[in-house]
Amino acid sequence: MTGYWDVHCHLLPGVDDGADSMEESMHMLQMEYTDGVRHIIATPHYRKGMFETPVGMLEAQYEAVCREARCRLPGLEIYLGYEFYANMDMTETLESGRRPAMGNARAVLAEFSGNVSEEFIRERTAALRAAGFTPVLAHVERYACLRENISLVRELVGMGAYIQVNAGSILGEHGRKCKKFCSRLRKEDLIHLIGSDAHGDQVRPPRIGACAAYLKKKCGSAYVEQIFCANPGEIFAGIAR
Ligand SMILES: [Fe+2]
Repeated sequence: MTGYWDVHCHLLPGVDDGADSMEESMHMLQMEYTDGVRHIIATPHYRKGMFETPVGMLEAQYEAVCREARCRLPGLEIYLGYEFYANMDMTETLESGRRPAMGNARAVLAEFSGNVSEEFIRERTAALRAAGFTPVLAHVERYACLRENISLVRELVGMGAYIQVNAGSILGEHGRKCKKFCSRLRKEDLIHLIGSDAHGDQVRPPRIGACAAYLKKKCGSAYVEQIFCANPGEIFAGIAR
């Protein structure tokens, strides 16, 4: 085992509503490291009109974090990605390289509004696929249209999307309904990836270790290895670092 992955984490300091300082970033990374995480994708928000940090600044913050982490946390791999708030120009933005897709699979961590319509999530997933990208649907447990209609999750998977849920949701930190839906997704084998979606060391801290321990008890080590190691290693193979 080469360590767990955290595929969704707002660890870059000062670029969105994630970590506020380098000190906080380092503390988040230390928590992840203690949990057994050895691969982390930094996923700053990209949301038109709200979070549009220039790529150059993201890269500078990423390099600074990697420099700080290198000697303190040996063997920890950090990659630069993003979380893309879905919009109608997203394939153009990706194709232009303003937000390049991640890894050999050209993966895109796509986020939607909590009240996204069935039509929109289906249409945007299809558009990403048609343009040659691999949609990774971020924290699907947050979208009412999927909670109310799990067959749509199945349909999106059939279209080529991967499903990501948040560690805290699995642990019940976002309410019982949300936890129940996550259990249902798990039982129907509709979860491919789990991310922390951590935003800080205090508020929404990383919870990969607790989630992995919980799932190990419920489903066994093979499942945990699949979700936290094998799947992310495959889906994000070749991701830039
Ligand atoms: Fe996020």
